[in-house]
Amino acid sequence: MILIIDFGSQYNQLIARRVREQHVYCQIEPPGIDIAKIKTLRPEGIILSGGPASIYETGSPRADKGIFDLNIPVLGICYGMQYMVDTLDGEVVGADKREYGFAELTIHDASGVFFGIDRETRCWMSHGDSIGRLPAGFKTTASTPNTENAAIENAVRRFYGLQFHPEVVHTPEGTRILENFLFRVCKCKKTWTMKSFVQESTQEIQSLVGDRHVVLGLSGGVDSSVAALLLHQAIGDRLTCIFVDNGLLRQDEAKRVRDLFKKHFRMNVRFVNAKKPFLDRLKGVSDPEKKRKIIGHVFIKIFEEEARKIDGARFLVQGTLYPDIIESQSPFGGPSAVIKSHHNVGGLPKKMKLTLIEPLKHLFKDEVRVLGKELGLPDDLVWRQPFPGPGLAVRIIGEVTPSRLSVLRKVDVVLLEEIRAHNLYRKLWQSFAVLLPLKSVGIMGDQRTYEHVVAIRAVTSDDAMTADWAKLPHDLLGKISNRIINEVRGVNRVVYDISSKPPSTIEWE
Ligand code: XMP
Repeated sequence: MILIIDFGSQYNQLIARRVREQHVYCQIEPPGIDIAKIKTLRPEGIILSGGPASIYETGSPRADKGIFDLNIPVLGICYGMQYMVDTLDGEVVGADKREYGFAELTIHDASGVFFGIDRETRCWMSHGDSIGRLPAGFKTTASTPNTENAAIENAVRRFYGLQFHPEVVHTPEGTRILENFLFRVCKCKKTWTMKSFVQESTQEIQSLVGDRHVVLGLSGGVDSSVAALLLHQAIGDRLTCIFVDNGLLRQDEAKRVRDLFKKHFRMNVRFVNAKKPFLDRLKGVSDPEKKRKIIGHVFIKIFEEEARKIDGARFLVQGTLYPDIIESQSPFGGPSAVIKSHHNVGGLPKKMKLTLIEPLKHLFKDEVRVLGKELGLPDDLVWRQPFPGPGLAVRIIGEVTPSRLSVLRKVDVVLLEEIRAHNLYRKLWQSFAVLLPLKSVGIMGDQRTYEHVVAIRAVTSDDAMTADWAKLPHDLLGKISNRIINEVRGVNRVVYDISSKPPSTIEWE
């Protein structure tokens, strides 16, 4: 495995992904990680990430300098390289201005991480400080017109430093550089595959759970579905899934989940019809935060009641993914922690004295999809767009009523049919409809109408932290609008949301 020490760079997740794309397992840890823990991880190499700080700032993040005495190869990127140089008694100098963007890179020595790369290439820079005097034993291996020490190495100790970012696509030979570090320098083997992940996790789960029972909240989304299949493979009928129908789901969602997990996979799934308690509590409530809180509380109460009926349940499974973990441990914190704070089952494990199992906590979303495929999850579910826990309630602006839910469900069906028919479903991060608390005047046949307005939201995104409104073809938008107005009673106007995140959010509430 490769250990990545996180100095707070916006790119640290990218470094991890690039390493895993090479089928090498890696883990991101904060700078405070102690040497004993590093030794137990037994990394074949250490990557020191970039970061926003200057090494001269008070409180700038530092790792234990003992990492340089472990006889393990180290690759420092940007701040990571400056930290290495500073720690090994070289000199980092402040620059008057930041260097940001493309730079022409000239390679002087291609025996190390530049093996097999042309002498002239391009790289992506984003730094203020740079390297002045090199520590003993180091030499310069590449330069740009502005930065003499764009890359350095001490081949004897196997320490490498890059002032630029090999992990971003703007460095065309970046992958090659990382490959050289992983395979030529660290001698890693390509052993990280989903098959090996399934084997290892299955064993871990079996030895942790023994003959006890496990509960899992199944939502029908990708993460909880994949977690459920993995657990089922490991412990069979000792897993009980609980599916709460809160009345805020899309058309036929509960049936889809039943058909797949109960009928097809023959898993233990308890379906709880809780439409009434949710809708009763939501009556007359328009405030978005109040709606979310009510839904969260009712969910926990119902889930807890149901889980208590399962004899001997000791564990609760959650489909937490790696980005959530990284964000919450980052030395500078991360905004996504706040954005994703609504976890429907949050607070449950403590209250119910259950031990938490998070089998996906080291995976990225795209890895979870690959894992899902490996476990036999149908494509349709593997590629499901995210759907928020509070469901259609956050897509009905104003009060949630059965009749408004019914209108929105029908609109949603038409919209998704068209998006799929145009082969856009997978390309879009999300595509959905929002029912507005407005009526507007229209004309149908010779009749005046006064009916609902619906907004269409379609966005592209990599991680939901930022998103761009999708430039859907006008013809498609026209067809969606026509079909909705013709086929869904109660809607006479469709508008398209052209705001990006930030400053807007993806969901309207
Ligand atoms: P926003 O609207 O904050 O959403 O841009 C970012 C992503 O998170 C999803 N989302 C939620 N997911 N429970 C969830 O499980 C929630 O309460 C929740 N709220 C938003 C949203 O659909 C988008 O993908």
